[in-house]
Amino acid sequence: MKRVIVKGIGSHIPDCVLSNADLEGMVDTTNEWIVSRTGIESRRICLDTEMTSDISCEAAKKALENANIAVCDVDLIIVATVTPDMQFPATACIVQEKLGCVDIPCFDLSAACSGFIYAIDVARNFLLNNPVMKNVLVIGADRFSSIVDWEDRSTCVLFGDGAGAVVLARDTDDSGAGILDVLIGADGRCVRDLYCLGWGVADIEKIEKKDRCVRMEGRAVFREAIKRMSAVIEDILLRNELAVEDVACVIPHQANMRIITAIADRVGISEEKMFINLQRTGNTSAASIPIAIDEAVQAERVQSGDLILAVSFGGGITWGAALVRWK
Ligand code: ACO
Repeated sequence: MKRVIVKGIGSHIPDCVLSNADLEGMVDTTNEWIVSRTGIESRRICLDTEMTSDISCEAAKKALENANIAVCDVDLIIVATVTPDMQFPATACIVQEKLGCVDIPCFDLSAACSGFIYAIDVARNFLLNNPVMKNVLVIGADRFSSIVDWEDRSTCVLFGDGAGAVVLARDTDDSGAGILDVLIGADGRCVRDLYCLGWGVADIEKIEKKDRCVRMEGRAVFREAIKRMSAVIEDILLRNELAVEDVACVIPHQANMRIITAIADRVGISEEKMFINLQRTGNTSAASIPIAIDEAVQAERVQSGDLILAVSFGGGITWGAALVRWK
C-alpha cells in the first residue's frame, strides 16, 4: 500500500506578543511562577479582527507554497479547532472561501489539542481509500485568547494563538517517506478536567459569559498528560517494532515544560531529541504540533529521511501519536 506523505508544511503565529511581564499587570502572577511551573515566557495573541480562519489561511498559504501546488489543486480541507469563527458553518468552509477554492468538501474536527493528530489520521484514510482525492489540506488552528478567562491566573498564563498546516498526498514514487502510523485515543470520563461550555448547553440563558471560558483541573490534566503521552509513545513504537533510538526528533504537544521533561524521563528519550518552542508560543492547542514540526524543519532539526514522532494530549481527554519518515 502506498504511503501518504507530507508534501508541504507552513505555520503562522500572530504578531502581537503577550509577555509574562504583561500578565503580571493583568492578574496576580509573576514571571518567575509562570516560567518555573510551565517554561512559558511569552505567547502570541490575535488582534480583535484576526479570526481562527485568518491565521489558518496564513499557515495554509505557506504550506501550499512549500508543497508547490496551487489552491485549485486542493481536494479537501480539514480544520482541527475548538475555537471556530462561528458555531456553524465550519471554519474549514470559511478558509475555503478566503483561499478561493470552491466546491471541495470542507469540515472541522474537534479533538482539542490532539485535533491535528486526529485530522492527519482522517486525511490519510481519505487519501488511501479515495483515488479521486490527491491533495488534502489539514490545518490545526486555535485562538484560545477568545475563550480564556483573563481574570483566572491558573489558565490565562498557559495559552497562545496560532495555526499550522500541512498538505498531505499519496507518495507517487514509493520513497519510503511518509506517515508510517497514527494512533489516537480518548477517555470521556475526564471531560470535566478540561472543558469549555458550548452553545448547546442546557439553560444557556442562565450561563454568564465568564462561565463559557476554559475551565481546567490543572493537577489532574498534568497527571493524565504524562500518563497518556508516555503510553501512546510506547504503544506506537512497539507496534511498529521501533525503539526510541530510531527516532530523530520527538515533537511533543507544547503545553508545559515539566510535562515534556517527565515524559522524556519516563520513556527514556534524551532531552536533545525533544523539540521545544513553548517558551515563545505558549500552548496553541491544535496548532501546537504543526507549528513545532514546521519550526523544527526550518531549524534543520529534522532532515530528509529522519523519523519524527509527534505526540499530543488535550481536552476530552484525547491523545494521539504519529510516526512520520520526513520526505
Ligand atoms: N501565578 C501565581 N500563582 C498561581 C498561578 C499563577 N499564574 N496559577 C496558580 N497559582 C497558584 C494556585 O492558586 C496555588 O495557590 P495555593 O497553593 O495558594 O492554592 C498554587 O499556585 C499552586 O497551584 P497548583 O495548581 O497546584 O500549581 P501546579 O504546580 O500544579 O501548576 C499548572 C499549575 C501549571 C496549571 C499545572 O497543574 C499544569 O501544568 N497542568 C497542566 C496544564 C496544561 O498543560 N493544560 C493544557 C493541556 S491540554 C491542552 O493543551 C488543552
